[in-house]
Amino acid sequence: MPRRLVLDCDTGTDDAIAIMLACRRPELDLIGVTAVWGNHAVEHTADNSLRTLDLIGRTDIPVLAGCSGPIEPGGEEQEGSPEPDTLPIPPSTRSIESAHAVEWLIETARAATEQFTLVPTGSLSNIASAVRADPAFVEAVEEIVVMGGVVERGGALPDVETNVAYDPDAAQIVLDAGFEQFVLVTLDATYRATVTSEQCELLRNAGGVAAELAAEFIEQRIARYRLLPAMGGRAAAPVHDALTIAYLVDPTLVTLRTGRVRVETELGATRGRTDIELDPAVPTAADVQIAVDADAARFFELLLESLGGPE
Ligand code: RIB
Ligand code: CA
Repeated sequence: MPRRLVLDCDTGTDDAIAIMLACRRPELDLIGVTAVWGNHAVEHTADNSLRTLDLIGRTDIPVLAGCSGPIEPGGEEQEGSPEPDTLPIPPSTRSIESAHAVEWLIETARAATEQFTLVPTGSLSNIASAVRADPAFVEAVEEIVVMGGVVERGGALPDVETNVAYDPDAAQIVLDAGFEQFVLVTLDATYRATVTSEQCELLRNAGGVAAELAAEFIEQRIARYRLLPAMGGRAAAPVHDALTIAYLVDPTLVTLRTGRVRVETELGATRGRTDIELDPAVPTAADVQIAVDADAARFFELLLESLGGPE
C-alpha cells in the first residue's frame, strides 16, 4: 500500500520538484498539497502548486491555500526568494479549493482511518496553526518530515534556514507538538546532495515533461547557487525540498542522528537560528531525527529514474 502523503509547500522551484517526485513514486499517494507563505506570498505558492500538478496531469490532487504570514505578529521581515513569484509553467485551468488549508488539514486528520505522512517544505505557519487549533492533529500523522534548520554554523552554510526563520514561533510549536516520528532535513544534508550542470543534461535527455522542467529549474538554481561560498565554485545547487521525498522513498539516502532542537525565537539578530544538540547524552521523548548528510549520487539517480520518461 502506498503511503498517504500531504505536502505543505511554499512552492518555488525546489518545492515543485518535490511535488513532481512525490507524484511519480508508486510508494507514495499524494492526497493533497497545502500552500503556505514563505519564499513567496501564499497566492503565488498555491498557484504554483496548481500549475505544477496540472502540467504533469495530476489535476486530481487538491490544492488549498493557507497562512499568509507568521502565527505571531512581530519579528523582522525576511527577504523573499530571488526567484520570480510565478513559475514559468502554463496557468492552471482549475481553482484552489475553497477551504482554508489549516481547516482542511484538521478535517483530513479527523476523518483519517489510517495515518498519513506530512512533509512541510515552507514556513511552519500552517502546521503550527493546525496543532494549536487541534492538538490531536498529531495523532493522525505517522511521520513528519520537515525541510528546515541548520546544524553547523560559522562555516559555509547560512546561519539561519529560511523555512524556520520565516516563522520561528511556528517552528518551535511544531517541534514541541509531540509528533510520533519527526525528521528534520537540514541544510547540512541538502547542501551535500547537490545536482550539477552535467546531471541536469542527463535529466533533460531522460525526456518527459517532469524531467525537462526539473532540469530547467535546477539550471536556474545553479546560476544563483554557484556564486555562493558553500558551492566552492562548483556549477551545482541543492534541491532542498526534493530531499525530503527522496528520504521517504529510500531512508538510507540520508544520515540521521538523534538531536534536540531549540529554535531561537527571541527578537534580535539570532532569531530563527536552530540550536541543535546532536546525540544528547540522556535522550528524551522530545528528541527528533536530524538529517545531517546525504548521498548525492544516489539522490540524483532517484531523481533521474523517477522524473524521466512519459507521464
Ligand atoms: O532553506 C531552503 C528552503 O527555503 C526550501 O524549502 C526553499 O524552497 C525555501 O522554502
Ligand atoms: Ca520550500
